Amino acid sequence: MKFFVDSAEIDAIAELNDLGMVDGVTTNPSLILKSGRDILEVTKEICALVDGPVSAEVVALKSDEMITEGRKLAEIAPNVTVKVPLTWDGLKACKVLSGEGKMVNVTLCFSANQALIAAKAGATFISPFIGRLDDINMDGMELIADIREIYDNYGFQTEILAASIRAVNHVSDAAKIGADVITAPPEVIRKLASHPLTDKGLAAFVADWEKTGQSIL
Ligand code: E4P
Repeated sequence: MKFFVDSAEIDAIAELNDLGMVDGVTTNPSLILKSGRDILEVTKEICALVDGPVSAEVVALKSDEMITEGRKLAEIAPNVTVKVPLTWDGLKACKVLSGEGKMVNVTLCFSANQALIAAKAGATFISPFIGRLDDINMDGMELIADIREIYDNYGFQTEILAASIRAVNHVSDAAKIGADVITAPPEVIRKLASHPLTDKGLAAFVADWEKTGQSIL
């Protein structure tokens, strides 16, 4: 499973990248706002740091403007993935941009039918939003399973990028279902290493070691 970092914070991305945890990055207009950075500059920096796909999102609502924005974003670096919303105009832009050989991430996916039609339009990645479905008492993970089944039934090559991940269980559940990629905030990725029994066990080892009076160095 590939790990993308859902962030536009250079320091957080760099820390995880140094650990070999980063296969790509996703950003969106809200994350750009949070970073306080210029989208073109920060995307360029992230692309220079990370080898894998870096999603940068268009903000126009009409397909011709999305295509123009997508072409400009794609000029930043070869690893830019143009992110378009799952609307009819977004699908038109997806078809054109993917036809030009650009990677396209179709975002804001909330149904299996949306995922199916995005694959038909040539999406490189489909981004189903798990957390936002859970927020409205729907089952985000069921959507990942449905898309996996549909894509496998017909051999669609579009990668399932499980997004809107809020908790560590989302990561293992998406992995069990067979999502190709997860994108998660840096703090969720860091939490994957945590377990209370690890902390408890380590505290006991440290206490016993002190009682031995020994030193390794
Ligand atoms: C993914 O590409 C999105 O940027 C992101 O996962 C959305 O997450 P949120 O629902 O926590 O904002």
